[in-house]
Amino acid sequence: MLVAEGAEKFAHKEGFERKNMLTDRAKAHYRKRIKEMAAQAAAKELKPYSGHDTVGMVCLDGKGKMTAATSTSGLFMKKKGRVGDSPVSGSGFYADSKKGAASATGLGEDLMKGCISYEIVRLMGEGMHPQEACETAVNRLDGELRERRGEAGDISLIAMNPKGEWGAATNIEGFSFAVVTEELEPTVYLVTRGEDGRCTYEKASEEWMETYMKTRMAPIEE
Ligand code: GLY
Repeated sequence: MLVAEGAEKFAHKEGFERKNMLTDRAKAHYRKRIKEMAAQAAAKELKPYSGHDTVGMVCLDGKGKMTAATSTSGLFMKKKGRVGDSPVSGSGFYADSKKGAASATGLGEDLMKGCISYEIVRLMGEGMHPQEACETAVNRLDGELRERRGEAGDISLIAMNPKGEWGAATNIEGFSFAVVTEELEPTVYLVTRGEDGRCTYEKASEEWMETYMKTRMAPIEE
């Protein structure tokens, strides 16, 4: 695992382009949040802004190899030096071609407490279907956190096994994910979590897709 200067040198050596990833839109979000924080104490809570969160992926290639990846800029307004779960193997992602792969999004501090991606892969290794593994791990961690401190941060996971079977689970409202296989064109699903912790999903409607895009592109009122 490479970090900081060493990681940067390695990236240059491998031909990665140096690029400022800060967009005008992200800057506008920043300015808005600064104003909100000055106006009300409640706004100091760390959470991603609407339209921004971790992107996670799990893949199975034609030779049966599995990979997992996450990309994030972490929680909005985080402390300098904070490392979230995303780059931490076992928490933000984990892949084992024999058992499966998983990727997480949500509150890094809580996701790391459960080594949640590793836990899902471990459960798949014991024979659980990805859906059951995701639900079991998410519900267990959510329950443990609530028992200990009365609340749990956002926890959402996707997973796939070497057979190409997949699953997703969450403890929040409004988690969405996409799947593409040789047989299935890219399809967005919305997850609903029942009272019993079981997660079901349905294909996102055209209307949902349009609203999603409109919300993400809407001008930011600063
Ligand atoms: N899951 C992203 C973070 O906590 O930074």
